[in-house]
Amino acid sequence: MSTLAPPRRPEIKTELPGPTGRQIVEADQQFVTPSYPRPSFKLVARRAEGVWVEDVDGNIFLDCNAGVAVCSTGHCHPEVVRAIQEQAAELIHICGTDYYYHHMPDLARKFDEIVPIEGPTRTHFANSGTEAVETALKLAMHATGREKFIAFFNSFHGRTLGSLSLTSSKVAQRRGFKRQALDVTHVPYPNTFRHPFTGERTDGETVSRACLDWIENRLFKTTVPPEECAAIVVECVQGEGGYVPAPREFLQGLRRICDEHGIMLIVDEVQSGMGRTGKMFASEHYDLKADIVCIAKGVASGLPLGACVARADLMDWKPGAHASTFGGNPVAIASALKTIEILERELVANSAEVGAYLQEGLRKLMQKHDCIGDVRGLGLMVGVEIVTDKASMRPAPELRDRVETACFERGLIILGAGYNTIRWSPPLILTREHVDVALEIFDEAIAAEC
Ligand SMILES: Cc1ncc(COP(=O)(O)O)c(C=O)c1O
Repeated sequence: MSTLAPPRRPEIKTELPGPTGRQIVEADQQFVTPSYPRPSFKLVARRAEGVWVEDVDGNIFLDCNAGVAVCSTGHCHPEVVRAIQEQAAELIHICGTDYYYHHMPDLARKFDEIVPIEGPTRTHFANSGTEAVETALKLAMHATGREKFIAFFNSFHGRTLGSLSLTSSKVAQRRGFKRQALDVTHVPYPNTFRHPFTGERTDGETVSRACLDWIENRLFKTTVPPEECAAIVVECVQGEGGYVPAPREFLQGLRRICDEHGIMLIVDEVQSGMGRTGKMFASEHYDLKADIVCIAKGVASGLPLGACVARADLMDWKPGAHASTFGGNPVAIASALKTIEILERELVANSAEVGAYLQEGLRKLMQKHDCIGDVRGLGLMVGVEIVTDKASMRPAPELRDRVETACFERGLIILGAGYNTIRWSPPLILTREHVDVALEIFDEAIAAEC
């Protein structure tokens, strides 16, 4: 698409997928694992630039998903592409577990400056979100000598066996894998739109009190002695669970509980980090300081990179305790350093500003359409909950899927999250003009399906 002037609107010229796309989907269905949780619509991408994705049949889509909250600087940002190309021409791999290169300390120093952890930090590099979480779990066990964990219903932390023990957003992620590898107890998450105990809409203080009480007066007095608990693992904004921001009282309460009992607070910023919420990290909205922070997705604009950043005093494990052949690869780090530079320069602010504009537009559509039950989020991490009607607020997952497909057919890429929510996680370069186009399509798709 680099030869094209950026389009102002999506352009759909064939049925979807078109003839070339169908061949690729057929080959995929024959040779690739069927375990990927792909939506009912089929996007077969060829190239992409900024917020625009072109498929193999020449159709052009406005991307409000960013490869599942990854392409933070937009697709193929020219400065990121240049940084990757220059690095690839110089050093692709040498293995940071055995040798040195400047990229690792450069990015670790940057994280020390920007990650919301009190005092000095150290960073362990990985290739993905789940690996960053695995590192955090191992580190918490190693640092505390404890092995129990607390996580939240509807959370998502990855699919490898350790992180899968935390993950609880859909039963399909667990089915067939027998007992969980780690000793994790799940606790209700304070969703103000649907109080986990009553199902009713509530306020942040009430629901926070109920969920914190569950930990302190139920778990700690029955199955999880606090002195045996290594860590509480939390997303400030649940991602795959349906784009649900936690109330401030709740996260501050978790910090207090952790401090009282020597428990590590692991904040998973894999989806909510790197400017997505209108601040560099979602924790900053809550003045929350973690002991350990997990980072991946948007950090390197699409190259695979994960990081576990922790209090330096915790990360005193010995050589051999944890390492990764590819983790912290120089090309991925070059991309991350450029990504962070662009985020700090302009895109964190843009995420806050355009995110507020997007939410305002979605709230107007909520007034208009009976099937939009809730609009919530921070910055450009916005969830729209689809219900049968406002009177009952009954979740409508099939309707959600139909709206998603109807948007796709009109050239807008959005994706579901949780049981009945549509997530908006566009590239952080999104403009108000893009929002106007996206909302027009969303409005039309909802009118057609609801
Ligand atoms: C909060 C959170 N943690 C961890 C992960 C796992 O990341 P990955 O798919 O890179 O392993 C995800 C992925 O969606 C996530 O949203």
